[in-house]
Amino acid sequence: MKDSNFLKEHNAKSLWHPMAHPGDSLANPPAIITSAQGVKITDIDGHEVVDAVGGLWNVNLGFSCQPVKDAIAAQLDVLPYYSTFRGTTNDQVIQLAEELRKFFAPDGLTRAFFTSGGSDSVESALRLARQYHKIRGEEGRTKFLSLKKGYHGTHMGGASVNGNANFRTQYEPLLPGCFHIPAPYTYRNPFNETDPERLARLCLQALEDEIAFQGAGTIAAFIMEPVLGAGGVIPPHASFMPGVREICSRNGILLIADEVIAAFGRTGSWSGSRHWGVQPDMMATAKAITNGYFPFGAVMIADHMTETFEKDTSGKAAIGHGYTYSGHPVGAAAALACLQETLRLNVTENAAARGTQIHQGLLALQQKYELIGDVRGGHGLMCALELVSDRTTKAAVDKKTIGKLQEAAYDAGAMVRVSGPNIILSPPLVLSEAEASTILSALDAGFAAVS
Ligand SMILES: Cc1ncc(COP(=O)(O)O)c(C=O)c1O
Repeated sequence: MKDSNFLKEHNAKSLWHPMAHPGDSLANPPAIITSAQGVKITDIDGHEVVDAVGGLWNVNLGFSCQPVKDAIAAQLDVLPYYSTFRGTTNDQVIQLAEELRKFFAPDGLTRAFFTSGGSDSVESALRLARQYHKIRGEEGRTKFLSLKKGYHGTHMGGASVNGNANFRTQYEPLLPGCFHIPAPYTYRNPFNETDPERLARLCLQALEDEIAFQGAGTIAAFIMEPVLGAGGVIPPHASFMPGVREICSRNGILLIADEVIAAFGRTGSWSGSRHWGVQPDMMATAKAITNGYFPFGAVMIADHMTETFEKDTSGKAAIGHGYTYSGHPVGAAAALACLQETLRLNVTENAAARGTQIHQGLLALQQKYELIGDVRGGHGLMCALELVSDRTTKAAVDKKTIGKLQEAAYDAGAMVRVSGPNIILSPPLVLSEAEASTILSALDAGFAAVS
């Protein structure tokens, strides 16, 4: 192991960081995290803080989840890799699929297609949606609809349904045939509507309008996050996702729930779709499926879709898609242990309670600091603050202020995530009451430093 001087001197020198400007990473080298315990991370200087980011929305059970670590180590000894492409499988992935089938039964999802992460899961779901319609003789259904502000990963398909210019502009042209409707985002929307229920109705009308314009028979699927995550934690009104479900069903359009963040408890329910009382046609999962310890994901597929694929005799249902690491035995072993531990700890309860605590704490901070334009949360452990330099004009706060705030919060005991004008909180679901308070007091110190 090289010493800390070497690491600091070479930080960001020979690698480009995802979601960062390479020049900025050189000018402001990233924090070097060297260890973690429980819900806390420690940097190269020995500074320990509560990780309010939860890795990257994925370390739901914290950094000391021994059963997952043991499962990975044991599996590496027995079978470190084998392919699940046609003709071979492994013992772990068979068991995992059975467990996932039980876990997602209330969502109506009974088959798994395994992937190496969230972007892979999204890509797989988009492709399977087109294939589903082709098998059924509706070849014209190829388009995708999605929400502005949505985040669906970085593959070309996922980026094409993404609803944030930051992840699109430099990579255009993206996939043709992808169209976006306004998000149920009360703080800023084209309807100037602040009432969540009325806004949900307007967005649903926009969806109907877009379907009528495109022609329902040209649309394969609508993809949405149950609570918009990376776009700034935007929970819709409770009527929104059920409304989307109804419109999709009425128009023969598949509904893909992108639950790369939401699945496995983050919203305070076992899935985001269940949170809103909706059964999607497919669900993209990843992240917390292995507690972030192994890159892995699964697309879950609705029972009603299975006959179309499994009983096909035309050959069109052969899946010409998959990853070398689909169904990786080490990932599957990690996921099996993780699922068992997630259920044993019943993390939804704590996610809901700590989520409420943090959301209430953020609302109190808004009373104190003018910089906080909007507070969003109230659905488990995903919250955001949108910062503005002026509450009346809602002009975004400058990058320097938000950077300074983040640094002060870090010094005061919490790692928080900055994304554009938003501070995003997505801590592990095993967070204690005292640790949630630490996040709030660290943020308080952060705001005090820039106010
Ligand atoms: C909703 C959603 N979908 C897809 C992805 C992409 O997942 P990954 O980064 O594992 O490819 C993410 C990542 O944050 C996500 O939040």
